[in-house]
Amino acid sequence: MSLLIRNARILTLAPSTGSGQAALNRPRRGKELAELGIIPQGEVLITEGKITAVGPKVDAPADAEVVEAQGRVLLPGFVDCHTHACWAGDRLDEWEQQLRGVPYLEILKQGGGIHATVRAVREATKKQLAAHLKTRLDAMLRAGTTTVEIKSGYGLEAEAELKMLRAIVRAGHEWPGTIVPTALLGHAFEGDPEDYARMVVKEMLPAVSKEFPDITVDAYCEKGAWSLDACVKLFEKAQKHHPIRVHTDQFNSLGMVPEAIRLHARSADHLEASTKADLLLLASSRTTGVILPCTGFHTDGRYARAGFLVDAGGAVALATNCNPGTSPTHSMPFAIALAVRFCGLSPAEAIVAATINAAAVLGLSDRGTIEAGRRADLILLCHKDERQLAYELGGNPVDAVICNGQVVK
Ligand code: NIG
Repeated sequence: MSLLIRNARILTLAPSTGSGQAALNRPRRGKELAELGIIPQGEVLITEGKITAVGPKVDAPADAEVVEAQGRVLLPGFVDCHTHACWAGDRLDEWEQQLRGVPYLEILKQGGGIHATVRAVREATKKQLAAHLKTRLDAMLRAGTTTVEIKSGYGLEAEAELKMLRAIVRAGHEWPGTIVPTALLGHAFEGDPEDYARMVVKEMLPAVSKEFPDITVDAYCEKGAWSLDACVKLFEKAQKHHPIRVHTDQFNSLGMVPEAIRLHARSADHLEASTKADLLLLASSRTTGVILPCTGFHTDGRYARAGFLVDAGGAVALATNCNPGTSPTHSMPFAIALAVRFCGLSPAEAIVAATINAAAVLGLSDRGTIEAGRRADLILLCHKDERQLAYELGGNPVDAVICNGQVVK
């Protein structure tokens, strides 16, 4: 049975004519980020999970189920391309410490922060982890996220990391959207940092590679977490078989951005403390900058200069960074609202960063625009003007969610 969405303001995000076929499967950069490819009043036909026709009027079978959009905005489902949404326990006591002025890195140094969640994750079973995650995934879906990346990184030993990755995959079986697991093998360390990093390269990476041969490998380059040298050694090994991504310049700029570019990282994420010189390098590279403004909002009010990156011709993606320490939110509309207020993106640029560009970071070329042949992951807003998505604060501007061709909200 087909589904016909009628009378919608459609943000197709299709590349403008002249960008060529090659534009389809790469992130939008520079000025392209502002192009929403709008059909002011149009129709979308969906059959067997795929978009089959888009235009002001399309030919639909007589028995197609009809969704009447009443002029409201239809756009691709959000792709949340950076989360740590699989965790157990909570960090409420530490959050109170943070509110009294204790910095995040100080709490980490004292054995809390990421380590507090590691202790809780090690105690939890795979089933419990999957159940906690499923609750968060359902909240994400209600807010329009149809694809989500979820990192491990709270195991810090091979079996616990594998338990997390298995729990992530398991939760995905019970969720209508798409889950992309990432092996965050360099999130923190136990014991001597150099010995620990050697163990990860020699033991943990091969164990993860064996069970998850295509998985992306990630690390956190930061004072008190993984050093530049340790990250580079891990990535040089991992890159032979896996795509790589990196958390970099969250609090300190340690020189990881040029290395990420040299190592062909898919993305460099955070960038709150990046220098202008590094942002310019990033803008002229194939590595996408992923900004995480909910983190600055929750921690210390510092934000990545995404507008600068876009003006310099760079590719930017946007994500929630959903996690118990620096970003306790599942909401892409909230991330969009912050990105336009604090990171220098326009509402249109934030929408592109949250959809097609985020899909490109995850290596998914079948989604992120509304074009024939794409996977039918779509959201219908409550509003007739897409700028409301960025304007509204703290609500849920998403009225309906279509995932793989099925109306799921
Ligand atoms: O991206 N900073 C490193 N990782 C997460 C925080 C994880 C945590 O504190 O539990 C981040 O902000």
